[in-house]
Amino acid sequence: MKHQLLLVLIFLGATLNALNVIGQNPILIIPKPRMAEQSRGVFTLNPKTSLFAPDGLLKKAKQLKGYFEPALGYDLSISSKRANKDLIEFKLDNTLKRLGEEGYQLKITPEKVSLTAFTEKGIFWGIQTIRQLLPNQINRSATVKGVAWEIPCVSIEDNPRFKWRGLMLDCSRTFIPKEQVKKYLEAMSYFKMNVLHMHLTDDQGWRLEIKKYPELTSICSKFHESFREPKENEGFYSQDDIRELVEFAAQRNIEIVPEIEMPGHTTEVFAAFPQLSCTGDTLKIHPWTKGAGVHNEVFCAGNEKTFEFLENVLKEVAELFPSAYIHIGGDEAPKMYWKACPKCQARIKDNGLKDENELQSWFVKRIEKYVNSKGKKLIGWDEIMDGGLSSSATVMYWRAWDKSVVQKIPLIENDIVMTPTSHCYFDYTYEKISTERVYSYEPIPAGMSGDKTQKILGVQANFWSHLDRTAPRMDQQLFPRIIALAEVAWTDPGKRDWIDFKSRLEPKLTYLDITGINYFGKK
Ligand code: ACM
Ligand code: ZN
Repeated sequence: MKHQLLLVLIFLGATLNALNVIGQNPILIIPKPRMAEQSRGVFTLNPKTSLFAPDGLLKKAKQLKGYFEPALGYDLSISSKRANKDLIEFKLDNTLKRLGEEGYQLKITPEKVSLTAFTEKGIFWGIQTIRQLLPNQINRSATVKGVAWEIPCVSIEDNPRFKWRGLMLDCSRTFIPKEQVKKYLEAMSYFKMNVLHMHLTDDQGWRLEIKKYPELTSICSKFHESFREPKENEGFYSQDDIRELVEFAAQRNIEIVPEIEMPGHTTEVFAAFPQLSCTGDTLKIHPWTKGAGVHNEVFCAGNEKTFEFLENVLKEVAELFPSAYIHIGGDEAPKMYWKACPKCQARIKDNGLKDENELQSWFVKRIEKYVNSKGKKLIGWDEIMDGGLSSSATVMYWRAWDKSVVQKIPLIENDIVMTPTSHCYFDYTYEKISTERVYSYEPIPAGMSGDKTQKILGVQANFWSHLDRTAPRMDQQLFPRIIALAEVAWTDPGKRDWIDFKSRLEPKLTYLDITGINYFGKK
Protein backbone atom coordinates (compact mmCIF):
# COMPACT_ATOMS: atom_id res chain seq x y z
CA MET A 1 0.00 0.00 0.00
CA LYS A 2 2.83 2.34 0.99
CA HIS A 3 4.47 1.44 -2.26
CA GLN A 4 1.42 2.37 -4.31
CA LEU A 5 1.12 5.71 -2.56
CA LEU A 6 4.74 6.45 -3.35
CA LEU A 7 4.19 5.60 -7.02
CA VAL A 8 1.13 7.86 -7.17
CA LEU A 9 3.12 10.69 -5.61
CA ILE A 10 5.99 10.20 -8.07
CA PHE A 11 3.52 10.14 -10.97
CA LEU A 12 1.82 13.30 -9.70
CA GLY A 13 5.18 15.02 -9.28
CA ALA A 14 6.24 14.18 -12.83
CA THR A 15 2.88 15.32 -14.23
CA LEU A 16 3.02 18.61 -12.34
CA ASN A 17 6.54 19.18 -13.57
CA ALA A 18 5.45 18.53 -17.17
CA LEU A 19 2.44 20.84 -16.73
CA ASN A 20 4.72 23.50 -15.34
CA VAL A 21 6.53 23.87 -18.62
CA ILE A 22 3.48 23.50 -20.87
CA GLY A 23 3.01 26.61 -22.95
CA GLN A 24 6.69 27.39 -22.89
CA ASN A 25 9.05 27.00 -25.79
CA PRO A 26 10.34 23.45 -25.83
CA ILE A 27 14.06 22.69 -25.65
CA LEU A 28 15.08 22.05 -29.26
CA ILE A 29 18.82 21.58 -29.20
CA ILE A 30 20.82 19.67 -31.84
CA PRO A 31 22.80 17.65 -30.93
CA LYS A 32 20.59 16.51 -28.10
CA PRO A 33 22.32 17.06 -24.75
CA ARG A 34 23.11 14.26 -22.33
CA MET A 35 20.72 15.72 -19.75
CA ALA A 36 18.27 18.62 -19.97
CA GLU A 37 15.56 19.40 -17.44
CA GLN A 38 13.26 22.25 -18.27
CA SER A 39 11.65 24.26 -15.50
CA ARG A 40 9.14 27.06 -15.34
CA GLY A 41 9.98 30.54 -16.59
CA VAL A 42 12.37 32.27 -18.94
CA PHE A 43 15.47 34.42 -18.85
CA THR A 44 15.11 37.45 -21.12
CA LEU A 45 17.99 39.26 -22.80
CA ASN A 46 17.48 43.01 -22.43
CA PRO A 47 19.59 46.19 -22.51
CA LYS A 48 20.41 45.73 -18.81
CA THR A 49 21.83 42.23 -19.28
CA SER A 50 25.48 42.10 -18.24
CA LEU A 51 28.20 39.51 -18.65
CA PHE A 52 30.51 38.45 -15.86
CA ALA A 53 33.51 36.23 -16.59
CA PRO A 54 37.00 35.61 -15.23
CA ASP A 55 39.87 37.08 -17.26
CA GLY A 56 40.56 33.73 -18.91
CA LEU A 57 37.04 33.67 -20.37
CA LEU A 58 36.74 37.29 -21.50
CA LYS A 59 37.40 36.23 -25.09
CA LYS A 60 34.43 33.86 -24.91
CA ALA A 61 32.27 36.61 -23.36
CA LYS A 62 33.19 38.85 -26.30
CA GLN A 63 32.33 36.04 -28.68
CA LEU A 64 28.84 35.77 -27.14
CA LYS A 65 28.42 39.55 -27.55
CA GLY A 66 29.49 39.18 -31.19
CA TYR A 67 26.80 36.57 -31.78
CA PHE A 68 23.94 38.48 -30.19
CA GLU A 69 24.51 42.22 -30.51
CA PRO A 70 23.82 42.58 -34.26
CA ALA A 71 20.26 41.23 -33.90
CA LEU A 72 19.65 42.79 -30.48
CA GLY A 73 20.68 46.22 -31.71
CA TYR A 74 22.18 47.08 -28.31
CA ASP A 75 25.34 46.23 -26.38
CA LEU A 76 25.61 43.63 -23.68
CA SER A 77 28.09 45.02 -21.17
CA ILE A 78 30.95 43.05 -19.69
CA SER A 79 30.91 43.98 -16.03
CA SER A 80 33.55 43.62 -13.35
CA LYS A 81 30.77 43.23 -10.80
CA ARG A 82 28.53 40.19 -10.59
CA ALA A 83 24.95 41.49 -10.85
CA ASN A 84 22.22 39.57 -9.04
CA LYS A 85 19.85 39.62 -11.99
CA ASP A 86 19.94 40.04 -15.78
CA LEU A 87 23.26 38.24 -15.53
CA ILE A 88 25.12 35.87 -17.86
CA GLU A 89 28.08 34.39 -16.05
CA PHE A 90 30.87 32.07 -17.18
CA LYS A 91 32.95 30.02 -14.78
CA LEU A 92 35.67 27.41 -14.98
CA ASP A 93 35.33 24.60 -12.46
CA ASN A 94 37.85 21.79 -11.92
CA THR A 95 35.19 19.48 -10.53
CA LEU A 96 33.66 19.42 -14.03
CA LYS A 97 36.72 17.52 -15.27
CA ARG A 98 34.41 14.51 -15.05
CA LEU A 99 32.63 15.89 -18.15
CA GLY A 100 35.89 16.07 -20.12
CA GLU A 101 37.41 19.09 -21.84
CA GLU A 102 34.36 19.62 -24.07
CA GLY A 103 31.68 19.20 -21.42
CA TYR A 104 29.67 22.00 -19.81
CA GLN A 105 26.88 22.74 -17.38
CA LEU A 106 24.26 25.34 -18.14
CA LYS A 107 21.71 26.56 -15.63
CA ILE A 108 19.14 29.07 -16.72
CA THR A 109 16.80 30.76 -14.22
CA PRO A 110 14.73 33.92 -14.70
CA GLU A 111 17.55 35.87 -12.99
CA LYS A 112 20.64 34.46 -14.63
CA VAL A 113 22.35 32.26 -17.18
CA SER A 114 25.17 30.37 -15.52
CA LEU A 115 27.59 28.52 -17.79
CA THR A 116 30.30 26.40 -16.18
CA ALA A 117 32.90 24.08 -17.67
CA PHE A 118 36.26 22.48 -17.04
CA THR A 119 37.83 24.30 -20.05
CA GLU A 120 37.20 27.17 -22.43
CA LYS A 121 36.18 24.56 -25.03
CA GLY A 122 33.25 23.51 -22.86
CA ILE A 123 32.27 27.15 -22.38
CA PHE A 124 32.21 27.58 -26.17
CA TRP A 125 29.88 24.60 -26.68
CA GLY A 126 27.67 25.94 -23.89
CA ILE A 127 27.45 29.25 -25.76
CA GLN A 128 26.23 27.33 -28.83
CA THR A 129 23.52 25.78 -26.67
CA ILE A 130 22.46 29.24 -25.48
CA ARG A 131 22.32 30.37 -29.14
CA GLN A 132 20.10 27.41 -29.95
CA LEU A 133 17.77 28.14 -27.04
CA LEU A 134 17.10 31.70 -28.25
CA PRO A 135 14.65 32.50 -31.06
CA ASN A 136 16.31 31.87 -34.46
CA GLN A 137 16.09 35.57 -35.27
CA ILE A 138 19.07 36.08 -32.94
CA ASN A 139 21.22 34.87 -35.85
CA ARG A 140 20.30 37.83 -38.05
CA SER A 141 23.08 40.26 -38.88
CA ALA A 142 20.88 43.37 -38.54
CA THR A 143 18.66 44.62 -35.70
CA VAL A 144 15.45 42.68 -35.24
CA LYS A 145 12.57 44.50 -33.56
CA GLY A 146 9.60 43.02 -31.76
CA VAL A 147 11.11 39.70 -30.65
CA ALA A 148 11.14 38.69 -26.99
CA TRP A 149 14.66 37.35 -26.52
CA GLU A 150 13.62 34.61 -24.15
CA ILE A 151 15.65 31.59 -23.12
CA PRO A 152 13.60 28.86 -21.44
CA CYS A 153 14.72 27.97 -17.93
CA VAL A 154 16.59 24.71 -18.07
CA SER A 155 19.34 22.79 -16.38
CA ILE A 156 21.71 21.07 -18.80
CA GLU A 157 24.69 18.81 -18.36
CA ASP A 158 26.34 17.85 -21.59
CA ASN A 159 29.40 16.37 -23.23
CA PRO A 160 30.13 14.57 -26.50
CA ARG A 161 30.16 10.84 -27.14
CA PHE A 162 33.00 11.06 -29.70
CA LYS A 163 35.98 13.37 -29.87
CA TRP A 164 36.21 13.43 -33.72
CA ARG A 165 33.07 14.97 -35.24
CA GLY A 166 34.20 15.81 -38.72
CA LEU A 167 33.51 17.01 -42.20
CA MET A 168 35.84 16.55 -45.16
CA LEU A 169 35.69 19.08 -47.96
CA ASP A 170 37.27 18.15 -51.28
CA CYS A 171 38.84 21.47 -52.25
CA SER A 172 40.63 19.96 -55.24
CA ARG A 173 37.99 18.69 -57.69
CA THR A 174 36.38 22.10 -57.31
CA PHE A 175 38.11 24.90 -55.44
CA ILE A 176 36.00 26.00 -52.46
CA PRO A 177 36.54 29.71 -51.74
CA LYS A 178 37.66 30.81 -48.28
CA GLU A 179 34.38 32.58 -47.47
CA GLN A 180 32.40 29.45 -48.29
CA VAL A 181 34.68 27.38 -46.05
CA LYS A 182 34.05 29.92 -43.27
CA LYS A 183 30.31 29.60 -43.76
CA TYR A 184 30.63 25.84 -43.21
CA LEU A 185 32.92 26.29 -40.21
CA GLU A 186 30.37 28.60 -38.61
CA ALA A 187 27.52 26.13 -39.18
CA MET A 188 29.66 23.20 -37.99
CA SER A 189 30.34 24.98 -34.71
CA TYR A 190 26.64 25.78 -34.24
CA PHE A 191 26.07 22.00 -34.30
CA LYS A 192 29.18 21.25 -32.17
CA MET A 193 31.28 19.60 -34.87
CA ASN A 194 35.00 19.97 -34.32
CA VAL A 195 37.11 18.68 -37.23
CA LEU A 196 37.35 20.12 -40.73
CA HIS A 197 39.43 17.82 -42.93
CA MET A 198 40.57 19.74 -46.02
CA HIS A 199 41.40 17.55 -49.00
CA LEU A 200 43.86 20.03 -50.47
CA THR A 201 45.45 18.09 -53.29
CA ASP A 202 44.19 15.68 -55.94
CA ASP A 203 44.28 15.06 -59.68
CA GLN A 204 42.11 18.12 -60.35
CA GLY A 205 44.39 20.65 -58.69
CA TRP A 206 46.84 21.53 -55.92
CA ARG A 207 45.17 24.08 -53.65
CA LEU A 208 47.79 25.06 -51.07
CA GLU A 209 50.59 27.60 -51.44
CA ILE A 210 53.97 25.99 -50.76
CA LYS A 211 56.74 28.61 -50.68
CA LYS A 212 59.44 26.14 -51.71
CA TYR A 213 57.57 25.11 -54.88
CA PRO A 214 55.73 28.09 -56.44
CA GLU A 215 54.88 25.91 -59.47
CA LEU A 216 52.44 23.96 -57.31
CA THR A 217 50.15 26.95 -57.38
CA SER A 218 51.21 28.78 -60.56
CA ILE A 219 50.78 25.61 -62.65
CA CYS A 220 49.27 22.77 -60.58
CA SER A 221 46.26 24.73 -59.28
CA LYS A 222 44.95 25.37 -62.80
CA PHE A 223 43.00 23.18 -65.21
CA HIS A 224 44.69 22.81 -68.59
CA GLU A 225 43.44 25.56 -70.91
CA SER A 226 42.28 23.03 -73.50
CA PHE A 227 39.38 22.05 -71.17
CA ARG A 228 38.00 25.63 -70.99
CA GLU A 229 37.04 25.08 -67.38
CA PRO A 230 35.39 28.10 -65.66
CA LYS A 231 38.03 30.02 -63.69
CA GLU A 232 36.00 29.92 -60.47
CA ASN A 233 36.52 26.15 -60.26
CA GLU A 234 40.27 26.52 -59.80
CA GLY A 235 42.48 28.44 -57.41
CA PHE A 236 44.38 27.94 -54.18
CA TYR A 237 44.64 29.05 -50.56
CA SER A 238 47.62 31.30 -49.84
CA GLN A 239 49.45 30.59 -46.60
CA ASP A 240 47.81 33.74 -45.21
CA ASP A 241 44.39 32.36 -46.20
CA ILE A 242 45.18 29.16 -44.32
CA ARG A 243 46.31 31.04 -41.22
CA GLU A 244 43.04 32.99 -41.38
CA LEU A 245 40.96 29.81 -41.71
CA VAL A 246 42.89 28.02 -38.96
CA GLU A 247 42.29 30.96 -36.60
CA PHE A 248 38.62 31.27 -37.61
CA ALA A 249 38.20 27.54 -36.95
CA ALA A 250 40.12 27.59 -33.65
CA GLN A 251 37.85 30.34 -32.32
CA ARG A 252 35.04 27.88 -32.96
CA ASN A 253 36.67 24.80 -31.34
CA ILE A 254 37.41 23.33 -34.78
CA GLU A 255 40.70 21.76 -35.78
CA ILE A 256 41.61 21.84 -39.46
CA VAL A 257 43.28 18.60 -40.57
CA PRO A 258 45.16 19.08 -43.85
CA GLU A 259 45.37 16.31 -46.43
CA ILE A 260 48.21 16.00 -48.91
CA GLU A 261 47.56 12.98 -51.15
CA MET A 262 50.21 10.35 -51.84
CA PRO A 263 51.29 8.14 -53.54
CA GLY A 264 48.23 8.25 -55.86
CA HIS A 265 45.75 10.98 -56.85
CA THR A 266 48.79 13.13 -57.62
CA THR A 267 48.77 13.69 -61.38
CA GLU A 268 48.30 17.44 -60.88
CA VAL A 269 51.83 17.49 -59.43
CA PHE A 270 53.16 15.89 -62.63
CA ALA A 271 51.88 18.86 -64.64
CA ALA A 272 54.90 20.74 -63.23
CA PHE A 273 57.11 17.99 -61.75
CA PRO A 274 56.94 15.09 -64.26
CA GLN A 275 60.26 13.73 -62.99
CA LEU A 276 58.51 12.57 -59.78
CA SER A 277 56.35 9.94 -61.49
CA CYS A 278 57.54 6.55 -62.80
CA THR A 279 56.81 7.50 -66.42
CA GLY A 280 58.20 11.04 -66.43
CA ASP A 281 55.25 12.18 -68.58
CA THR A 282 53.99 15.76 -68.23
CA LEU A 283 50.25 15.50 -67.57
CA LYS A 284 47.40 17.89 -68.28
CA ILE A 285 45.09 18.74 -65.40
CA HIS A 286 41.52 18.00 -66.46
CA PRO A 287 38.17 18.39 -64.72
CA TRP A 288 36.94 15.11 -63.19
CA THR A 289 34.07 15.01 -65.66
CA LYS A 290 36.50 14.86 -68.60
CA GLY A 291 38.66 11.86 -67.77
CA ALA A 292 39.43 9.02 -65.40
CA GLY A 293 38.51 9.24 -61.70
CA VAL A 294 41.59 7.24 -60.73
CA HIS A 295 44.84 7.71 -62.67
CA ASN A 296 47.53 5.11 -63.08
CA GLU A 297 50.39 7.60 -62.67
CA VAL A 298 51.55 7.86 -59.05
CA PHE A 299 54.67 9.12 -57.25
CA CYS A 300 57.70 6.99 -58.03
CA ALA A 301 58.52 5.17 -54.80
CA GLY A 302 62.01 4.31 -56.00
CA ASN A 303 63.07 7.92 -56.59
CA GLU A 304 64.68 9.75 -53.64
CA LYS A 305 63.55 13.04 -55.21
CA THR A 306 59.95 12.04 -54.45
CA PHE A 307 60.72 11.97 -50.72
CA GLU A 308 62.74 15.17 -50.84
CA PHE A 309 59.75 16.88 -52.48
CA LEU A 310 57.17 15.43 -50.08
CA GLU A 311 59.20 16.21 -46.98
CA ASN A 312 59.69 19.80 -48.09
CA VAL A 313 55.93 20.09 -48.65
CA LEU A 314 55.05 18.42 -45.34
CA LYS A 315 57.49 20.68 -43.48
CA GLU A 316 55.48 23.75 -44.55
CA VAL A 317 52.18 21.96 -43.93
CA ALA A 318 53.26 21.04 -40.38
CA GLU A 319 54.19 24.67 -39.70
CA LEU A 320 50.95 26.07 -41.10
CA PHE A 321 48.41 23.77 -39.46
CA PRO A 322 48.45 23.40 -35.67
CA SER A 323 46.43 20.16 -35.98
CA ALA A 324 47.83 17.10 -34.22
CA TYR A 325 47.30 15.18 -37.49
CA ILE A 326 48.49 15.28 -41.07
CA HIS A 327 46.39 13.23 -43.50
CA ILE A 328 48.48 11.67 -46.26
CA GLY A 329 45.66 10.22 -48.37
CA GLY A 330 46.91 6.80 -49.43
CA ASP A 331 43.74 5.75 -51.28
CA GLU A 332 43.32 4.36 -54.76
CA ALA A 333 46.96 4.15 -55.84
CA PRO A 334 47.18 1.79 -58.84
CA LYS A 335 50.34 -0.29 -58.91
CA MET A 336 50.65 -0.63 -62.70
CA TYR A 337 53.63 1.72 -63.13
CA TRP A 338 55.39 0.54 -59.97
CA LYS A 339 55.32 -2.97 -61.48
CA ALA A 340 57.08 -1.71 -64.62
CA CYS A 341 59.45 0.85 -63.05
CA PRO A 342 63.08 -0.29 -62.56
CA LYS A 343 63.55 2.17 -59.65
CA CYS A 344 60.43 0.95 -57.84
CA GLN A 345 61.40 -2.68 -58.42
CA ALA A 346 64.90 -1.99 -57.08
CA ARG A 347 63.33 -0.46 -53.96
CA ILE A 348 61.24 -3.61 -53.46
CA LYS A 349 64.31 -5.83 -53.83
CA ASP A 350 66.62 -3.72 -51.66
CA ASN A 351 64.14 -3.65 -48.81
CA GLY A 352 63.12 -7.30 -49.01
CA LEU A 353 59.51 -6.38 -49.81
CA LYS A 354 57.09 -8.95 -51.14
CA ASP A 355 55.19 -6.88 -53.67
CA GLU A 356 53.84 -3.43 -54.63
CA ASN A 357 51.37 -3.42 -51.72
CA GLU A 358 54.30 -3.78 -49.35
CA LEU A 359 56.03 -1.00 -51.28
CA GLN A 360 53.08 1.29 -50.56
CA SER A 361 53.23 0.33 -46.89
CA TRP A 362 57.00 1.05 -46.90
CA PHE A 363 56.27 4.43 -48.54
CA VAL A 364 53.65 5.37 -45.93
CA LYS A 365 55.83 4.23 -43.01
CA ARG A 366 58.74 6.31 -44.30
CA ILE A 367 56.48 9.35 -44.58
CA GLU A 368 55.06 8.63 -41.12
CA LYS A 369 58.55 8.84 -39.62
CA TYR A 370 58.91 12.30 -41.14
CA VAL A 371 55.43 13.38 -40.02
CA ASN A 372 56.20 12.17 -36.47
CA SER A 373 59.53 14.05 -36.51
CA LYS A 374 57.47 17.23 -36.98
CA GLY A 375 55.44 16.39 -33.88
CA LYS A 376 52.39 15.20 -35.84
CA LYS A 377 50.41 11.99 -36.09
CA LEU A 378 49.75 10.36 -39.46
CA ILE A 379 46.22 9.60 -40.60
CA GLY A 380 45.34 8.02 -43.93
CA TRP A 381 42.50 6.38 -45.88
CA ASP A 382 42.02 2.70 -45.04
CA GLU A 383 44.30 1.55 -47.90
CA ILE A 384 47.18 2.34 -45.51
CA MET A 385 46.30 -1.06 -43.99
CA ASP A 386 47.22 -2.83 -47.25
CA GLY A 387 50.70 -4.32 -47.23
CA GLY A 388 51.11 -3.78 -43.47
CA LEU A 389 49.96 -1.01 -41.14
CA SER A 390 52.17 0.88 -38.70
CA SER A 391 50.88 0.63 -35.14
CA SER A 392 50.84 4.39 -34.60
CA ALA A 393 48.93 5.48 -37.72
CA THR A 394 45.25 6.45 -37.53
CA VAL A 395 42.98 4.85 -40.11
CA MET A 396 40.15 6.65 -41.85
CA TYR A 397 37.76 3.86 -42.79
CA TRP A 398 35.75 4.43 -45.98
CA ARG A 399 35.51 1.24 -48.11
CA ALA A 400 32.21 -0.06 -46.75
CA TRP A 401 31.61 -1.88 -50.05
CA ASP A 402 34.63 -4.15 -49.52
CA LYS A 403 33.85 -7.02 -47.12
CA SER A 404 37.51 -7.71 -46.43
CA VAL A 405 38.01 -4.11 -45.24
CA VAL A 406 34.81 -4.16 -43.16
CA GLN A 407 36.03 -7.33 -41.42
CA LYS A 408 39.51 -5.94 -40.75
CA ILE A 409 38.35 -2.74 -39.08
CA PRO A 410 37.18 -4.18 -35.72
CA LEU A 411 40.35 -6.30 -35.50
CA ILE A 412 43.07 -3.66 -35.85
CA GLU A 413 44.48 -2.01 -32.74
CA ASN A 414 44.86 1.45 -34.32
CA ASP A 415 42.75 4.55 -33.79
CA ILE A 416 39.99 4.76 -36.41
CA VAL A 417 37.74 7.49 -37.78
CA MET A 418 34.55 6.11 -39.33
CA THR A 419 33.60 7.58 -42.72
CA PRO A 420 31.96 4.68 -44.58
CA THR A 421 30.52 5.11 -48.08
CA SER A 422 27.36 3.47 -46.72
CA HIS A 423 26.37 6.46 -44.54
CA CYS A 424 28.97 9.24 -44.69
CA TYR A 425 29.48 10.04 -48.39
CA PHE A 426 27.68 13.33 -48.91
CA ASP A 427 28.50 13.54 -52.61
CA TYR A 428 26.01 10.66 -52.98
CA THR A 429 22.39 11.56 -53.70
CA TYR A 430 19.70 11.76 -51.01
CA GLU A 431 18.02 8.80 -52.71
CA LYS A 432 21.06 6.73 -51.83
CA ILE A 433 21.92 8.27 -48.44
CA SER A 434 18.90 10.01 -46.92
CA THR A 435 19.11 12.19 -43.82
CA GLU A 436 17.29 9.42 -41.96
CA ARG A 437 19.89 6.89 -43.10
CA VAL A 438 22.70 9.14 -41.86
CA TYR A 439 20.85 9.50 -38.56
CA SER A 440 20.62 5.72 -38.21
CA TYR A 441 24.39 5.25 -38.38
CA GLU A 442 26.11 3.56 -35.45
CA PRO A 443 29.87 4.26 -35.56
CA ILE A 444 30.89 1.44 -33.20
CA PRO A 445 31.14 -1.70 -35.39
CA ALA A 446 28.90 -4.61 -34.45
CA GLY A 447 30.55 -6.95 -31.98
CA MET A 448 32.98 -4.35 -30.62
CA SER A 449 32.58 -3.58 -26.94
CA GLY A 450 34.35 -2.47 -23.78
CA ASP A 451 37.73 -0.70 -23.97
CA LYS A 452 38.12 -1.61 -27.64
CA THR A 453 35.47 0.96 -28.55
CA GLN A 454 37.87 3.68 -27.37
CA LYS A 455 39.85 3.31 -30.59
CA ILE A 456 36.88 4.61 -32.57
CA LEU A 457 37.73 8.31 -32.38
CA GLY A 458 34.53 9.34 -34.08
CA VAL A 459 32.77 9.89 -37.33
CA GLN A 460 33.07 12.15 -40.36
CA ALA A 461 31.12 13.11 -43.47
CA ASN A 462 33.09 13.19 -46.72
CA PHE A 463 32.08 15.59 -49.44
CA TRP A 464 33.75 15.03 -52.83
CA SER A 465 33.30 18.01 -55.14
CA HIS A 466 33.47 16.38 -58.56
CA LEU A 467 29.72 16.48 -59.34
CA ASP A 468 28.17 19.26 -57.24
CA ARG A 469 30.37 22.23 -57.99
CA THR A 470 28.49 25.39 -57.06
CA ALA A 471 27.95 26.73 -53.54
CA PRO A 472 24.14 26.17 -53.50
CA ARG A 473 24.59 22.58 -54.68
CA MET A 474 27.37 21.89 -52.20
CA ASP A 475 25.22 23.37 -49.41
CA GLN A 476 22.40 21.07 -50.46
CA GLN A 477 24.56 17.94 -50.44
CA LEU A 478 25.79 18.81 -46.94
CA PHE A 479 22.61 20.09 -45.28
CA PRO A 480 20.62 18.81 -43.53
CA ARG A 481 22.53 15.51 -43.56
CA ILE A 482 25.45 17.00 -41.66
CA ILE A 483 23.09 18.05 -38.84
CA ALA A 484 22.02 14.42 -38.47
CA LEU A 485 25.65 13.33 -38.38
CA ALA A 486 26.43 15.96 -35.74
CA GLU A 487 23.91 14.25 -33.45
CA VAL A 488 25.29 10.78 -34.29
CA ALA A 489 28.73 12.03 -33.26
CA TRP A 490 27.69 13.83 -30.06
CA THR A 491 24.66 12.12 -28.55
CA ASP A 492 24.46 8.70 -26.92
CA PRO A 493 22.66 6.15 -29.10
CA GLY A 494 20.05 5.53 -26.39
CA LYS A 495 18.97 9.18 -26.66
CA ARG A 496 18.65 9.19 -30.43
CA ASP A 497 15.17 9.07 -31.91
CA TRP A 498 14.43 9.96 -35.53
CA ILE A 499 10.93 11.37 -34.93
CA ASP A 500 12.15 13.50 -32.05
CA PHE A 501 15.16 14.61 -34.14
CA LYS A 502 12.88 15.68 -36.99
CA SER A 503 10.87 17.86 -34.62
CA ARG A 504 14.09 19.58 -33.54
CA LEU A 505 15.48 19.79 -37.10
CA GLU A 506 12.54 21.76 -38.49
CA PRO A 507 13.35 24.97 -36.53
CA LYS A 508 17.04 24.57 -37.29
CA LEU A 509 16.23 24.89 -41.00
CA THR A 510 15.27 28.47 -40.20
CA TYR A 511 18.82 28.96 -38.88
CA LEU A 512 20.06 27.79 -42.30
CA ASP A 513 17.65 30.18 -44.06
CA ILE A 514 18.86 33.10 -41.96
CA THR A 515 22.54 32.32 -42.42
CA GLY A 516 22.20 31.84 -46.18
CA ILE A 517 22.79 28.11 -46.38
CA ASN A 518 20.84 26.13 -48.96
CA TYR A 519 19.62 22.65 -48.04
CA PHE A 520 17.93 19.62 -49.52
CA GLY A 521 14.15 19.97 -49.37
CA LYS A 522 14.20 23.78 -49.10
CA LYS A 523 10.90 25.21 -50.33
C1 ACM B 1 38.01 7.91 -51.23
O1 ACM B 1 36.78 8.07 -51.32
N1 ACM B 1 38.73 7.67 -52.32
C2 ACM B 1 38.70 8.00 -49.95
ZN1 ZN C 1 58.86 4.24 -59.97
